Amino acid sequence: MNNSFQKNKEYKKFVVDSRLQYFKPHATKIEKTFSEEISSSLGTGSKSIHPKFFYDKKGSDLFEKICAVPEYYPTRTEISILKRLQSELDSFLDVDFRLVELGSGSSTKTRLILDFLTSSQKTTEYFPIDISEILTESSEELLNDYKNLSITGIIDTYEGGLEFLKTYDDKNNLIIFLGSSFGNFSPIDGYKFLEKIYATMKPGDLFLIGLDLVKDKVILESAYDDSEGVTAKFNLNVLSRINDELDADFNLNNFSHHSIYNEKDQRIEMYLKSLVDQSIIISKSDLELKLQKDELIHTEYSHKYRLSQIHDLLDDVGFELKHTWFDEKKYFSLTLVSKN
Ligand code: AVI
Repeated sequence: MNNSFQKNKEYKKFVVDSRLQYFKPHATKIEKTFSEEISSSLGTGSKSIHPKFFYDKKGSDLFEKICAVPEYYPTRTEISILKRLQSELDSFLDVDFRLVELGSGSSTKTRLILDFLTSSQKTTEYFPIDISEILTESSEELLNDYKNLSITGIIDTYEGGLEFLKTYDDKNNLIIFLGSSFGNFSPIDGYKFLEKIYATMKPGDLFLIGLDLVKDKVILESAYDDSEGVTAKFNLNVLSRINDELDADFNLNNFSHHSIYNEKDQRIEMYLKSLVDQSIIISKSDLELKLQKDELIHTEYSHKYRLSQIHDLLDDVGFELKHTWFDEKKYFSLTLVSKN
């Protein structure tokens, strides 16, 4: 193990075998954080639940289902762009890059990049950063499919994982952040996050970001309110999670999924709408939540971008633009930048 890492005492290293290890911070107080965050975000005038809380096991499964519904174009469009990009990557990756992914990669998308790296490198290193322990399960499958792959999982928040990576070693990293997950940040948090990525990168490192583009309102709104109702279930599931983990008594029949596209702010806004006047007890957050009929709980923003805005944003942070790929309809984009 390299020296710089040994100085970092906050992570525990778990070696599964010669090709799989992972790092986990000592003593995470996730449940406490959840109850505290819910207590403050639902205990104020404008009520909200942070979208990171969507992703318990059931929520993650529902999100996978969303990715396959006909109306939700981002996933399949990004995959089609990645297939094209695969053959063009070698002109940008001239050294032994390690793949670092923000989010864990059991998906087709990660595999498209790994296909390229594992066929052009003797051994390929893959560092997924994800708060979810699912990371260890999906890793096994990847190791079976790519014999020259080794995986180092970092089970932490993106920020924590990036901090870890910063002092890890001198190898060049290709950091990927796909799926327009960046769109779920507020503009201010998003900007800070890009600065964090920039600060993590060494000269020569690359960063590939997938972002959803501004398009017709009807297409956007149906992508976030599909006819099978999977997105509605995904949104409502966060209330079940609060019931289960924070000992609350939300009756899901008293809420509906509500999403709209805000053209001015270029974002889908998702809410849970209270269908009646009601009061809910969230025991572990020490909260009695009172809601009026039609009152909204905000659950997610999903920002959409114009290509010029993406370039300006990345440029402002200090990145150097290498290339942007998009599909024929210009629904989705992938942009590669470097730090020089
Ligand atoms: C994870 N994220 C990029 C998705 C999105 O499109 O904003 C989450 C999602 N919410 C509803 N549908 C999908």
